[in-house]
Amino acid sequence: MSRSMLLGVTTLLTGATGFLGSRLLLGLLTTRGRHVTVLGRGTVSELRSRVLVILEDLAGGGIGARARSRLRCVAGDVTRPWLGLAPAVYGRLAREAEAVWHCAGDIALTGERERLFRANVHGTERILQFAESTSPSCRLVHMSTVAVAGGRRTGVVAEEDLTDTSGFETHYDESKYRAETLVRDWARRLDRPVAVLRPGIVASGRAHREGMPGHPLRVLGDMIGTIARNGAPGIPPVVSLRRGGPGLRLRLRVPADAEFNIVPDGYATEAMLRIGHDAAEDLGHGVRTFHVVHPGETPMRLIVEAIEAHHVGLTLECVGDLPDPTPAESFVAGHLPGFLSYCHHRRAYGRRSALAWTDGLPDPAPIDRDYLARAMGFTGAVPHAG
Ligand SMILES: NC(=O)c1ccc[n+]([C@@H]2O[C@H](COP(=O)([O-])OP(=O)(O)OC[C@H]3O[C@@H](n4cnc5c(N)ncnc54)[C@H](OP(=O)(O)O)[C@@H]3O)[C@@H](O)[C@H]2O)c1
Repeated sequence: MSRSMLLGVTTLLTGATGFLGSRLLLGLLTTRGRHVTVLGRGTVSELRSRVLVILEDLAGGGIGARARSRLRCVAGDVTRPWLGLAPAVYGRLAREAEAVWHCAGDIALTGERERLFRANVHGTERILQFAESTSPSCRLVHMSTVAVAGGRRTGVVAEEDLTDTSGFETHYDESKYRAETLVRDWARRLDRPVAVLRPGIVASGRAHREGMPGHPLRVLGDMIGTIARNGAPGIPPVVSLRRGGPGLRLRLRVPADAEFNIVPDGYATEAMLRIGHDAAEDLGHGVRTFHVVHPGETPMRLIVEAIEAHHVGLTLECVGDLPDPTPAESFVAGHLPGFLSYCHHRRAYGRRSALAWTDGLPDPAPIDRDYLARAMGFTGAVPHAG
């Protein structure tokens, strides 16, 4: 029997049914061989079966009996007092936790302030209260985002930077900024070991199964696909125009020179595990912050090219202003994924600490048109063919 089992030592993970948390859970259970307690919504059995279905999808099959035996689920909610747990369960978890990975959050990038603050700020406060009752050596890994840099448009954002002087593009950014300030203050006050991870826009190039957690680029691909395949109210589908028709021209209110930091999930997950798990003993007490980003920004032009190559007959034009939108343009404008709120940024992200603590991990490959096409779910036949 392993030492972890004898001592009942566990890693508490929130957000395990989500896009990032599920990937981290798979790594913690398998390559890192940890015992993990997942705290999530729903009943314990619902949560366990949801988590296992997602893990099996990610692993491309079963995760193995040993990894399954290391997984425990507790029904809870990060916004509720005592995380929604019975006091005895809360106390036992606090005694057993060797690490807390806080990945639960609301990622509605253009969502309402109150809702985002409840999940992201208040939820983080509850997690900090919990972490305070764990052993002083218990480390906290807090999932933040590069979006905490808010409205800053240019220059290189350093990993240590955390300021509200440029304001915020969205309530999401502000909620994640507030959460990060709480984490920093808490760690300083208690001298606790904390790793703050700030990913860019994490994407996945693997085939997406219905019901599995998605990512922002997938949302964009699905929205364009809705118009192209089925049309939308008042909008003819592009396929109906394919036989020599004029095609469909759509203006997107996004600057033509917009760029985004898109980071592949495989690289991001491994980097986060190396920092939050493998390096944990050496990071020491206090807060360290890590940009988990791609070394190069992805131009909007490449995203447009990937869409147009797949949906032949569709022409996208990036414009600064959108006078007299057509029904199709209004539909797109109303459904644009939130990451396009960051289209005015020309900033880059320093990676000094992240590189130092992920030594030997190759940089992700450049993001190209094929990768973007896969990430947006353009895996089937080209719609105009046939
Ligand atoms: N995806 C990205 O590109 C990206 C980039 C930078 C930072 N991040 C950060 O990474 C974290 C996870 O993002 P994600 O993309 O994995 O999001 P996601 O797929 O939407 O997953 C969110 C997770 O949080 C859980 N959750 C939400 N509210 C909760 C609550 N009140 N109590 C317990 N669990 C709750 C969800 O549980 P349910 O299944 O019950 O809803 C789900 O497991 C967020 O903090 C986000 O800010 C994400």
